[in-house]
Amino acid sequence: MLAIKTEGLSKYFNNKKAVEDLNLQVPEGVIFGYLGPNGAGKTTTIRLLLSLAKPTKGRAYILGENISKSRNYLKKIGFLPEVPSFYNFFTAKEFLNFISDISGMVKPNKKIEEMLQLVELNKEKKRIGTYSRGMKQRLGIAQAILSDPPLLILDEPTSALDPEGRKETLDLIASFKGQKTVFFSTHILGDVEKICDMVGIIKEGRLVLNDSIENLKKSHSKRTLFIEVDKPKKLMETLQYLNWVEEMSPVNKNGIILQVKDLQFAQKSLPEILSKENILLNKWELKEPTLEDIFLEVVHNGN
Ligand SMILES: Nc1ncnc2c1ncn2[C@@H]1O[C@H](COP(=O)(O)OP(=O)(O)OP(=O)(O)O)[C@@H](O)[C@H]1O
Ligand SMILES: [Mg+2]
Repeated sequence: MLAIKTEGLSKYFNNKKAVEDLNLQVPEGVIFGYLGPNGAGKTTTIRLLLSLAKPTKGRAYILGENISKSRNYLKKIGFLPEVPSFYNFFTAKEFLNFISDISGMVKPNKKIEEMLQLVELNKEKKRIGTYSRGMKQRLGIAQAILSDPPLLILDEPTSALDPEGRKETLDLIASFKGQKTVFFSTHILGDVEKICDMVGIIKEGRLVLNDSIENLKKSHSKRTLFIEVDKPKKLMETLQYLNWVEEMSPVNKNGIILQVKDLQFAQKSLPEILSKENILLNKWELKEPTLEDIFLEVVHNGN
């Protein structure tokens, strides 16, 4: 079953298309990064999923339930808003007690202790007002998972955090892998690269990508080689006439970056060419594209 599925989901504000024809698919159990620049439509999507905004068109299903039919599905979601606010005079423990009271949890004490430990605030006796942003964000996540919901929706949990706070928060999110589905928005590519199984990219309200990181790496493998030889010029002269060579450019003193059509073919052919031309091979490396390369390609060229 899909944890989140949307069909043609759209939200217009007057003439502004904040989200347009969104077809999201988030399988259960994955950490899903919803990546997009400021104003792309991330928060609007999340508000639609939580029924905080009414869609102009389209439908959404959460864990199989059509969200327009009943609000019961909301119980299965833990939510962290974009700008969480807390009562500064509470300690972390008091705050979680307060949340458990208003959400009607029975005997929450053990659970609260567990949550405080998980987000490493169990030893923290000070008031929330004195916390760093990272600590507040961790407390926000503790609040979201207090009732142990199967799906977490987090709106930019790492923005506004310094590298250390970001790492703490990402590690915490990553620790839910396999246990919960996590859908979190971000404009930081590195976040996705570090912990996500899947990624959706939203650009100007439209989903331009929804795929697993593994698939992306496979399908966008560039077939790029770096080789270093004693006579780079001579080698390039020979290679330029071969049809399996797509592109090449010299780097440094003796290096060549080579894009090939068929990697295996290149691997088999090169040794023979080098030997025939009496060229000495000093270095040989396969270059995998980074996620950044892939994303830039997808966002600029479509798939
Ligand atoms: N209530 C609203 N009324 C009018 N326009 C809105 C409203 N909410 C959002 N928008 C517009 O819809 C677009 C998408 O906004 P949204 O907040 O979803 O983006 P976002 O991806 O969350 O951006 P950010 O990274 O800045 O949080 C923006 O152009 C925004 O100005
Ligand atoms: Mg937003």
